[in-house]
This record gives sequence, C-alpha cells and structure tokens, in this order.
Amino acid sequence: MTQLGDRLRYLRVSLLNYCNLSCFYCKPATRTCRQTGTADISVLTEAIATLHGFGVRKVRFTGGEPTLHKELISLVKTTRSLSEDTYCALTTNGLLLSKLAGPLAEAGLNSVNISLDTLQPERFRQITGVNGLDRVLDGIRAGIGVIPEVKLNCVMMKGVNDDEATEMVAFADDLGVDIRFIEYMPTRGSGTRQDLYIPGHQVMSSLPYTLTPMPGRRSLAARYYRADDLNIRVGFINAVSHSFCAHCDRIRLTSDGCLYGCLFSGQKINLFELLTHGSASVRYSLKQLLDSKQYLGCPKIGKPTEDLPSFVDMGG
Ligand code: 5AD
Repeated sequence: MTQLGDRLRYLRVSLLNYCNLSCFYCKPATRTCRQTGTADISVLTEAIATLHGFGVRKVRFTGGEPTLHKELISLVKTTRSLSEDTYCALTTNGLLLSKLAGPLAEAGLNSVNISLDTLQPERFRQITGVNGLDRVLDGIRAGIGVIPEVKLNCVMMKGVNDDEATEMVAFADDLGVDIRFIEYMPTRGSGTRQDLYIPGHQVMSSLPYTLTPMPGRRSLAARYYRADDLNIRVGFINAVSHSFCAHCDRIRLTSDGCLYGCLFSGQKINLFELLTHGSASVRYSLKQLLDSKQYLGCPKIGKPTEDLPSFVDMGG
C-alpha cells in the first residue's frame, strides 16, 4: 500500500466522547460529560490497521476519557502488534489509572500523558467537578515505573492555577516525570474566556529556573527545556501564541468514525463508512483530507467559537 508520506504519522483516536470528570474548560458549557457514544471495537481495529497501512506509526488513545472504554487494553495490544515500530500512547485524567497501569503496561503501552492542573484538592474539585485528586495522584504513581514514559499535562489558566506552576514542576521533578504546560485554547462554548488565557512565555518566566531549549522533532507540539537544577524536562505547548502547524503529521479519529485533519477545522471524512467500500476509497478520501489541511494555527482567543470542536469530543 502506498503511504501518504510525512503528512501522516500520528493518529489520535478519541475512543468515546464522555468523561468521568467535567472540567469547565474542556466541555461546552451546555453539555454534561455523560455517555453518548463509543466506537465499536472491530470497526475501530480495522480503521487503525488501515491507517497504519497508509503510514501511521504512532497511535494515541484519547477521549473523552479513554480508560472508560471496556476494550482499551486489547486495543493497545492490537495496535502494538501492527508492527514493531508502532508506538502506542494514552492521554488520561488518571482517575482510573491506579488499577489499569499494570495491565496497560503488559499490553505494551509505550507512554501515558496524565492531565494534572492542580495539586490542591479543593481547586481540583472546582476545576473538574469531582473530588478526585488523591485518586489521580495514585494513578500517576502507579504509572511510573511500569509504563516506559509518563508525562504530566497541565493547562495553565490565569487566576485559576497559574500560581502553581513552580510547585507543579517541583512535584514532577520529585517523581522524575516530564511536565508540559499547555496554553488554554479556544473550544466551543468556552473559547470566549479571554480572561483565562495566559501565554506560555509568562508561565515560563514565572519559574525559578534558567531553562535551556532542547532539540526536538519539528512535528512535536511541545517544546522542551531543561535546567541544571532539574532532572526532568519542562515542555510548553503554546498552541495559541506559537502555531506548530507547519510540520503537522497528525490526524484525528472521533468515536463516531469521522476523521479530521485538524483540531480546529470542521473538515472531515467518514472513515467507518469508507471502510465498507474498501481501502482504495479510504486512500482517495484520506488524500483529499490531507490536501485540504490549511495549517492555519489555533484560532485566537475571543473569536466566536460555534464552529470549533469541543475537546471532550476530539481529545485535545
Ligand atoms: N485548552 C487546552 N487544553 C485543553 N484540554 C482540554 N481542554 C483544553 C483547552 N480548552 C487538554 C486536557 C488534556 C488534553 C487532552 O487536552 O487538559 O490534557
């Protein structure tokens, strides 16, 4: 099968569009994070294998919250078995990770990103709607040591948690795991919260370290830094202030079977349906989708957001 070149290496799969947290910055204000859709396992497996045939070598399972998907372990196993050079990652809120870390590691999971926006229990409850910080911390500890790569993801928001950046880095350094600060991005329903946006460079300059940039693959969203007095890397995902579209090699599959070329574009193809017509149809439409990618960057905060995806559907 012909591959689709540099433009297609990384597939993000939103396994379901519901979550066991209800973070105010992630979901549309008008919606709960309760169950509405889950992808069928056999179709999903076929979809991932087909995209692997076109060049995908990294698959990240996201959600909603992917650990709520009953078949997650076997999906990881199947994905890893596609080829020796297929890398499998997970993005999770960590709430259920303490039990799942071992089985996920055994299934061959290479990497897990765990969302952690605060170390304060009451603040965690205010952000997520759930009293669950201890469970997340247990999940992080369970992941470390069994899953080869563990990273923390922290969405920094002005007046919400931006006073915790230094503490979060110290926490990550104690655990020996990398931490990434993510700029708050506009999403449907919450994108008008201009007041929440704080640029990554401000977070960086609030840290008491001399950070030195590290070389990294151009297609990566995060830029990593090191410091003499840190054992870990500190990453910044500055999607709003610095577009990293130019070297984008990712596509996104949602739980209803649609494939999107970009988190911020409504353009999609119905992959599950195309699969019923055979791989040539998939290739044709996939190429069109990739050709239509505009590499325009993340919309600026404060723009109307009706056309934007919500992260609970797309998995960030
Ligand atoms: N801006 C930036 N990151 C977000 N995430 C969810 N909503 C937003 C937003 N509005 C992050 C989650 C998680 C990842 C999947 O996406 O915190 O780390």
